[in-house]
Amino acid sequence: SSPRRIAIAIDGPAGAGKSTVARLVAGRFGYVYIDTGAMYRAVALAALRAGVEPGMTGELEKLVSELDIRLEPGDVVQRVRLNGEDVTDEIRSRAVTSVVPAYAAVPAVRARLVELQRAMAREGGVVMDGRDIGTHVLPDAELKVFLTASVQERARRRYEESGRAQGMTLEMLEEEIAERDRQDASREISPLVKAEDAIVLDTTTLTAEEAAERIAALAGRSIAEA
Ligand code: DC
Repeated sequence: SSPRRIAIAIDGPAGAGKSTVARLVAGRFGYVYIDTGAMYRAVALAALRAGVEPGMTGELEKLVSELDIRLEPGDVVQRVRLNGEDVTDEIRSRAVTSVVPAYAAVPAVRARLVELQRAMAREGGVVMDGRDIGTHVLPDAELKVFLTASVQERARRRYEESGRAQGMTLEMLEEEIAERDRQDASREISPLVKAEDAIVLDTTTLTAEEAAERIAALAGRSIAEA
């Protein structure tokens, strides 16, 4: 019989390498990769454009209920479509990055996105990354990984990826990342915490390939344990 298709939850702070590692693991098993951070970013972008602030609860609830957010596999990165428009690059802009945490803290936004995420994972065969996947979105995921790395290392990675191009210094990035950690960990609804049954993987001294390798080994074991 064909191997069972499990759900793999990868949580952790910004810059721990979740998206790169999750994509590698998904490719390895032929699973679908779901970047939930991109979904929160798409909501923030749509709200910014519509002039809907995080505190405008009614308007925000309406906006999020009408949004069509699609994640599509791309050549290198996953493409994100908002009502048909490709917003892959725009959701990574500093303007969006700085306001996402405020929108991600709104219960109506989280409720809607979690509903979409659970629907995407219903058939298994997914690698989903985010902050609350193992604790809240997919509490029954067969494998849960909590990916971390030092603030300094995470800032260095952001710098290489996009920070340099955006005119940021390493110090600015370190501060921004530490501040985002605080916001993500201290918010009232679905804060970033490790699930009790998650395996911690510190990637400070690992390449993405090495981290993916370790997760793939764990996943292989979990798939075999029918
Ligand atoms: O991983 P990222 O930087 O693309 O995440 C963008 C923001 O969305 C970040 O502030 C954390 C938040 N987020 C969340 O609250 N829950 C998730 N499952 C994923 C991301």
